[in-house]
Amino acid sequence: MTTTNSPHRCALVTGATQGIGLAIAERLAASGCDLVLHGIEDAAAGTGVARALAAQYGVQAAYVQADLLNADAAAALVEHATAALRAPDILVNNAGIQHTCPVESFPLDRWNAILAVNLTAAFLTMRAAVPGMRERGWGRIVNIASVHGLVASVHKAAYLAAKHGLVGLSKGVALETAAQGITVNCICPGWTDTPIIAPQIEARAALHGGDREAGIRDLLREKQPNLTLLPPARIGDAAVFLCSDAAAGITGVSLPVDGGWTAQ
Ligand SMILES: NC(=O)c1ccc[n+]([C@@H]2O[C@H](COP(=O)([O-])OP(=O)(O)OC[C@H]3O[C@@H](n4cnc5c(N)ncnc54)[C@H](O)[C@@H]3O)[C@@H](O)[C@H]2O)c1
Repeated sequence: MTTTNSPHRCALVTGATQGIGLAIAERLAASGCDLVLHGIEDAAAGTGVARALAAQYGVQAAYVQADLLNADAAAALVEHATAALRAPDILVNNAGIQHTCPVESFPLDRWNAILAVNLTAAFLTMRAAVPGMRERGWGRIVNIASVHGLVASVHKAAYLAAKHGLVGLSKGVALETAAQGITVNCICPGWTDTPIIAPQIEARAALHGGDREAGIRDLLREKQPNLTLLPPARIGDAAVFLCSDAAAGITGVSLPVDGGWTAQ
């Protein structure tokens, strides 16, 4: 896809050292973007990931560490990314955490943490990135929400609130930036093969005597009609499309990449 790279774009991807974030970073690098990877790992580990991508794809890459539980750190992330490489033309808010529990026993500290990382951090990075995108007359913001930004499942009170909030927030920022060459969209993945779903797989496997594959089959049969865990690269491909010139007319949408989950 001829995408993001005319001229050479710079992308800041949060939570980019593993899972969906790493896959998005790889796909953006393959399309010619320079990268600022964000993560919670120390500088040596994160810089190692950035150097590997730079060498593999022939782009520039830097690493910025920040704990997005901390609002000050989230608010400063775009500034630190700009200092590490240059101002981001593309912002991907991907970092996220999960906790599953019935609402009546949902711990307040887990609620606050999920809202901070999955929603407040995205607000703070968008708030910081939009002025520069406006000045340059071009910007792409891709927020990784979830099917749980569109529909509900049990035991996910905080995650549902955060992801539905992210979908609404993205629509609002899309409207505020639509006339300035900026698009703001969400991707809403279904079950995707990354560490975040490991506890849910383990819980299901326990109902099948610890059989992990049976646990996965169970989860998929319940919700995801394609009966396949999505490879993270499929989310990366969707992000590259939303950052491309081909998607310049698409803003304020929430794109399910969910094997049919939300069609039901
Ligand atoms: N895997 C799925 O099935 C699935 C489905 C729908 C949506 N998502 C969303 O995709 C996104 C990526 O998740 P993933 O599946 O790759 O899981 P993951 O656990 O592999 O990645 C989560 C990322 O968030 C980062 N992160 C966690 N806590 C952080 C903190 N305090 N500060 C900064 N960064 C922090 C981690 O370092 C990691 O890079 C999340 O927003 C998640 O909600 C995942």
